[in-house]
Amino acid sequence: MAMAFLTEPSHVHGSLPPLALACLAQRRVGLAQRFPGPVVLWAGTPVSRNFPANTYPFRARSHFLYFAGRPLPGAALWLEGGQATLFMDEPDPGAALWHGPTPSPEAHAEAMGAVAVYPLGELPQRRPEAITLPMTGLAEASPEVLALAHAIVDLRLCHDDWALAELQRAAHVSVQAHRAGMIATRHARTEAEVRAALEQVMVAQHCTCAYTSIVTTHGEVLHNDQYLQALHPGDLLLVDAGAETAQGWAADITRTWPVSGHFLPPQRDLYDVVLAAHDACIAAAGPGVEYRDLHLLACRTLTQGLVDLGLLRGHPDDLVERDIHALFFPHGIGHLLGLDVHDMEDLGDLAGYAPGRRRSDRVGLSFLRLDRPLRPRMVVTIEPGFYQVPGLLAPARLSGQYDDAVNWDRLAQFAGVRGLRIEDDVCITDDGCKVITAALPTDATTLEAWVQGEGGPT
Ligand code: GLY
Ligand code: MN
Repeated sequence: MAMAFLTEPSHVHGSLPPLALACLAQRRVGLAQRFPGPVVLWAGTPVSRNFPANTYPFRARSHFLYFAGRPLPGAALWLEGGQATLFMDEPDPGAALWHGPTPSPEAHAEAMGAVAVYPLGELPQRRPEAITLPMTGLAEASPEVLALAHAIVDLRLCHDDWALAELQRAAHVSVQAHRAGMIATRHARTEAEVRAALEQVMVAQHCTCAYTSIVTTHGEVLHNDQYLQALHPGDLLLVDAGAETAQGWAADITRTWPVSGHFLPPQRDLYDVVLAAHDACIAAAGPGVEYRDLHLLACRTLTQGLVDLGLLRGHPDDLVERDIHALFFPHGIGHLLGLDVHDMEDLGDLAGYAPGRRRSDRVGLSFLRLDRPLRPRMVVTIEPGFYQVPGLLAPARLSGQYDDAVNWDRLAQFAGVRGLRIEDDVCITDDGCKVITAALPTDATTLEAWVQGEGGPT
């Protein structure tokens, strides 16, 4: 499967490349084949802070973006019979003074290949009946709305060539951003300075952050959004950051590196255990493989590594059966990636779980966000980790119920490893997979060299 690679950003108001127009047309036809009725999708409107013109950055709803190809505040897209009609108002006459001239609705419609364009106010009389996706999830959804959601999921699960090109571009920018973060670490005094170094790469490449960057020496806080800690030579720094292209496509990369540029021996030991789980999952990923089995493979590989290091006692299969791994790996092996970092999770588990499946009650499986057989052109993350979360480990130790399996005294020798995660973005191909973030090293020695400012592309 060939993957196109966009070296230039595609701009929000520029013309779309032929590949984009062909894919947009195909998406609209694909929806009509899966859901014959008329559909309306809303972009959403900018949210104001303290006065109307002071808005938060606008991000269109992903379902709209998928079929419209450009983020148009306040717009609606009518989809029927494989064709799109744009409903959008002329910009406010005064807006040009503050924001400069913007394309007319007619120009937007032409650029995205819509067959007609009308003011928003005409939507009710021109198109009185249509099914739409509610903003608030699917809990109260009618059978028709559910059928539409299933149709959109089926389309968006496997990416077309334009989407793959955008995802590859997001990955490319994110690799450069991480590299800048690694290089900045040597002279940075705080987590915030590393964050600034890596996010500036995204901004300079016309990207935003696909999610709030995690840049932390406290990796045990899974979605840490504080950047206040000073950096010390013995610290591990966990960086989970990904770019979003101007068209809204995301990357999601995590690396964990030593602030000094040299792993301490216990850090290196645990790093290699997590890397073994990461590598095993990538080696096993391919079409027809159950993502749940990759999760269990990661659990067994991690558990084997912890047994080898003397942190756990027992057979890995038995330990995983007892969910002992979840004491140190309390999340799933990853998720879908696309227009959102946890793609389509606005629809709950509808995209992540194959029809008829639902989340397990088992603690070691309940965090799994994706339980489907993998298909070519799906993009998923692989992100095993090891964490020492006081809120999990302290009660587990107090309970005494894990004393046969966990060597608590040995664990104390690894106290300097608070949280460690390695995450790559993986595109399933016809005969295996391609790691689209592979340009960022994972092996400990190369990572050390990059943090030391040696090696890596110039
Ligand atoms: N990058 C954050 C997450 O996957 O949850
Ligand atoms: Mn992730």
